[in-house]
Amino acid sequence: MSERELLISGNWKMNHTHFEAIQFVQALSALLRATPLRAGRALSVHPAFTALRSVQTALESDGVPVALGAQNCHESEKGAFTGEVSAEMLKKLNVSYVIVGHSERRQHFGETDELVRAKADIVLRHAMTPIVCVGETLAEREAGEAKGKVGRQLEAVLSARPPAVVAGMVIAYEPIWAIGTGRTASSEDAQQMAAFIRATIGHVAGADAAEGARIQYGGSVTPDKAGELLRRRDVDGLLVGGASLDAESFHEIALAR
Ligand code: PGA
Repeated sequence: MSERELLISGNWKMNHTHFEAIQFVQALSALLRATPLRAGRALSVHPAFTALRSVQTALESDGVPVALGAQNCHESEKGAFTGEVSAEMLKKLNVSYVIVGHSERRQHFGETDELVRAKADIVLRHAMTPIVCVGETLAEREAGEAKGKVGRQLEAVLSARPPAVVAGMVIAYEPIWAIGTGRTASSEDAQQMAAFIRATIGHVAGADAAEGARIQYGGSVTPDKAGELLRRRDVDGLLVGGASLDAESFHEIALAR
């Protein structure tokens, strides 16, 4: 079990209208009142852009101990980018965490390592925390290239940053073969890659950065699997997709030990 604060994040992807999102927050709020989080744990939820304002209001008016997150943002400050959302717009909604470089965005929207770095830059510039996703495909894992791939993704986004900045970042290890497939990585695989990620952070940004940065695991996390993953030394939290859509299952994951 890590000594860093654990962060358990719900990535709703393209699910939940703003009505459904409000119902989710009300249900989660009631569950957290009945059974609160233990010390050293934090939660974030990442609704679609259309639900951010509603979720912000629902969380704040009820004093729900859950941070607001976004799933993406544009890398530019502002301007002629039809259909895009800026970091400043998110910050004004009290967004704390922004997922950048999710594998679905890399795969379906052509996001490169350079673009992911630019997105992390703007998120940091607006005093929010990027949750930077990294991970290998099944073919890369089978070819023994998983660490090479993850190492390159990390260097692209972390190099030449002040150690204190890196220490405040969150890295989500999400093996692509585990996302939405029901095929969770074993806690041993998750720990091994998390340890490799921490070593790489140390190599790129120094020991203090490696000690401070939080490393989440993501990919078919369920209430059953969460405790075992969270007990691993270098796993500092979870990035949960499907199982975060239901307040009860997200709450169970949040409590898992
Ligand atoms: P999943 O998604 O939990 O549905 O596998 C995880 C993610 O993509 O963040």
